[in-house]
Amino acid sequence: MKPIAIDLRCEYQPHPLGLGVRRPRLSWKLAGTDRGLRQTAYHLQVSEDESFQNLIWDSGEVLSDDSHLISWQGPDLMSRQQGCWRVRVCGGQHGWSDWSESSGFEIGLLEPSDWSARWMTSPAEPSSLQICPLFRKSFTLSGHVVKARLYTSARGLYLAWLDGQPVTDTQFMPGWTSYQHRLQYQTFDLTDQLSDGEHVLGLMLGEGWYKGTIGFAGHDGIYGRQTACLAQLELTYADGLTERIVSGGDWRTAAGPVRYSGIYKGEYYDGQYEQPGWTQPRAVLNPTDWQPVQLADDQSLDRLTAQEHWPVRVTESISPRQILTTPSGEQIIDMGQNMVGWLRFHLGGAPGTKIRVEHAEVLDRNGEFYTGNLRTADQVCEYHLTETTPRWYHPHFSWQGFRYVRISGWPGELNTDQLRGDVLHTDMPRSGFFECSDPQINQLQKNIVWGQRGNFLDIPTDCPQRDERLGWTGDAQMFIRTACFNYDTALFFSKWLRDLAADQSRERGVPFVVPNVLDDDQNFGQSYSSAAWGDAAVICPWTIYQCYGDRGILEQQFKSMKDWVEYIHAQGEQPWLWNTGFHFGDWLALDAPADGYVGATATDLIATAFYAYSCRLLAEAAAVLGRSESAQYSQWHEQIVHAFREEFITPSGRVAVPTQTAHVLVLAFDLALPTHRQRIAADLVQMIHKAGDSLTTGFVGTPYICHALSRFGHHDLSAKLLLRRDYPSWLYAVDHGATTIWEHWDSIRPDGSFWSDDMNSFNHYAYGAIGDWLYRVVCGLETDSSRPGYRHSLIHPRPISALTFAEARLETGYGLLACRWETHETTLRTDVKIPPNTTAQLTLDLQDPGDARHVMIDGQLLTGLCALPGEMTEDWLLDWQLEGCQLRLTLGSGSCRIEQPWNTGDDNHDNQ
Ligand code: BGC
Repeated sequence: MKPIAIDLRCEYQPHPLGLGVRRPRLSWKLAGTDRGLRQTAYHLQVSEDESFQNLIWDSGEVLSDDSHLISWQGPDLMSRQQGCWRVRVCGGQHGWSDWSESSGFEIGLLEPSDWSARWMTSPAEPSSLQICPLFRKSFTLSGHVVKARLYTSARGLYLAWLDGQPVTDTQFMPGWTSYQHRLQYQTFDLTDQLSDGEHVLGLMLGEGWYKGTIGFAGHDGIYGRQTACLAQLELTYADGLTERIVSGGDWRTAAGPVRYSGIYKGEYYDGQYEQPGWTQPRAVLNPTDWQPVQLADDQSLDRLTAQEHWPVRVTESISPRQILTTPSGEQIIDMGQNMVGWLRFHLGGAPGTKIRVEHAEVLDRNGEFYTGNLRTADQVCEYHLTETTPRWYHPHFSWQGFRYVRISGWPGELNTDQLRGDVLHTDMPRSGFFECSDPQINQLQKNIVWGQRGNFLDIPTDCPQRDERLGWTGDAQMFIRTACFNYDTALFFSKWLRDLAADQSRERGVPFVVPNVLDDDQNFGQSYSSAAWGDAAVICPWTIYQCYGDRGILEQQFKSMKDWVEYIHAQGEQPWLWNTGFHFGDWLALDAPADGYVGATATDLIATAFYAYSCRLLAEAAAVLGRSESAQYSQWHEQIVHAFREEFITPSGRVAVPTQTAHVLVLAFDLALPTHRQRIAADLVQMIHKAGDSLTTGFVGTPYICHALSRFGHHDLSAKLLLRRDYPSWLYAVDHGATTIWEHWDSIRPDGSFWSDDMNSFNHYAYGAIGDWLYRVVCGLETDSSRPGYRHSLIHPRPISALTFAEARLETGYGLLACRWETHETTLRTDVKIPPNTTAQLTLDLQDPGDARHVMIDGQLLTGLCALPGEMTEDWLLDWQLEGCQLRLTLGSGSCRIEQPWNTGDDNHDNQ
């Protein structure tokens, strides 16, 4: 069958509306039944409409196997321009395919001059706890509308309605960016909703991140004291005439029923202040409630930027698992899952009914409702009901991190049918799945995914519940590779990294949190540039490039990456060590002093190790971009590594800092001489044994520890760490009922007590970075870094004897990549699936080199398919080689099953 292009994407999205670029990148996948499917050429057409008569860009036939993020070669696109596009592909001997189905995109407003809307605010401002104002505009249309686009934004958070209906299911708009520099607007297609007659646009405005309290120092008004909103409805009539309805002095505003709404605090809804029908035409409203709006003091439009990634929305609604009664007699709703979002309830109340909804992540050791770890975040929602007819209620501009809910004031019996947990997060496409034969590890994987969902709420946050919920750079850096397996996070991180760059200091340092809302006076005397935190500036773009083959992110971030490395370069007492300044160190490591946060690993070792790593990645990024700086940074890297060895490794190869994390970093970042590496790995193993076969690493060492062990011949010990059930271990938390990842190895101690109140989140994804090792090592899904985005995959599964199978699936930019291994008595069976238009090298560890003779591929002996290694075989089995105990097969696309002799009980078939 001829291959055909499917799943057309423009800037990663199927039909993007309101794109903020003039030269969008186009991608497609190949579909076909053959193995070894390859594209040899493509032909792209972009047209003004479906007819493909008026072409904007015709690529002609291009000899290329590229199908992912093809750069735009047509003329620059303009604001509001629409494009319809299709592609046909040539697949080797099959010749040219038919045209694909067409797909579309539309550009947003690219220039401040595209806006005639004015920022409007409520005359009632400012106050410390803000009533969320309503804004209303009624307008009458005459004529047939063929196109209607609404562009909206806010300094604060907004919701929008047209004629009583929400214009979108998206929440927490316009999202959180570095508002001093960038503010997103959203685009909505309202064509089908607008006809002749009267219509009403309504907006509700909350404080959000812009004006509300944010950060643990309790500051508010960080970006400004005046919230405001902006709306521009652009109409095109059948006769070609256009009209705009824009926010401005002719709108009316009233106080609404949301009396306050704070991200940490929660929300207070008072039904007495409802304005029934206010978003509908012909509403009967009390004119004294509705005042003319005030135009905002700041009318600037230059920071506006189109929505850059997937929006936040409710992606799932869960029913409570049970209603339980605590020993003290309180009724508590148990959602069965530590989740992020809000509780929605269905109720009608006698006028005056007051409902109070409190949220907690855990119960204490006595089984009582516990909110101590929230610190100053109340997470309380209150409702004053006036409506007797039952309806659903939920907060508007506040979310909570919770598993347990305590409701007071509920009339009659609590009933789970009236309660739902709405799960909210950035609605990224799910891309990866991991499963194995151990249910506890599967629960760990689930916990990692839930941790990602709850903490990818427009930005990557450390935690979703206490008075932080901040874009901690270190946490994001540690987790990003895992994140890229579970979900398609390319757009999510592209947006956040723009904010990171925007918030870099004048000295080029990187803030602890992005968007930056901390100031130097808070806690640390510094709010910028800790090692391993600031390195997010380099590690995150590099990881996105690796996982999605997105060269654009390197172009976008190159200056920021370079600035960060240059910043470090200027810090040390000598240029090749970073031995000054404040660092979080190996945060929360178990070798920290009692009740302290910073682990025992010397911070100058950590800082210099990350300096070397970031410098190496920067040199590689420069090389990818063909930039001349590459040689200079490679040379810097050598000098840093040299200085590191002089300072931290003895001439005989002993690491001078005797901690697990020090050894892990030396191995993970290739800092030791190759001749010393085995010894350092052996020393690490000894340290782990000494600690009772357990890890003592914190945020910095943990993401790399299993990688370092597996790579240097100690895969069995990695497996042991993973499978360990006692404290400290990943499964300790799972055995203690965790449904997300805890901040501490002992957030709940074996005796049921808590680590502490002040730093104890039960939904902190940092230690979830083990997910990367499950996908990348246990199931062996890796990309070749010179052909990133899984254009050429390096699949090297590493079975664990305690498991009978493990499987990972990943939807890549080319299609599904998967690997499953399973042991059957004396056989190891490995099933792989390679996406069309890609190749893979599959490495299998044999227990004996002679086993190669018995290896079967799809039921046929490998040696029968092709007697000699290196000889060309089928068009999908491109090559094979045997090197020691490693069998390497080079495969084209498609599925195949490989069987090899296997003696279970032997974990350590290690090769480097
Ligand atoms: C956050 C962390 C963060 C850390 C800095 C904490 O309060 O929750 O996850 O990385 O501070 O060390």
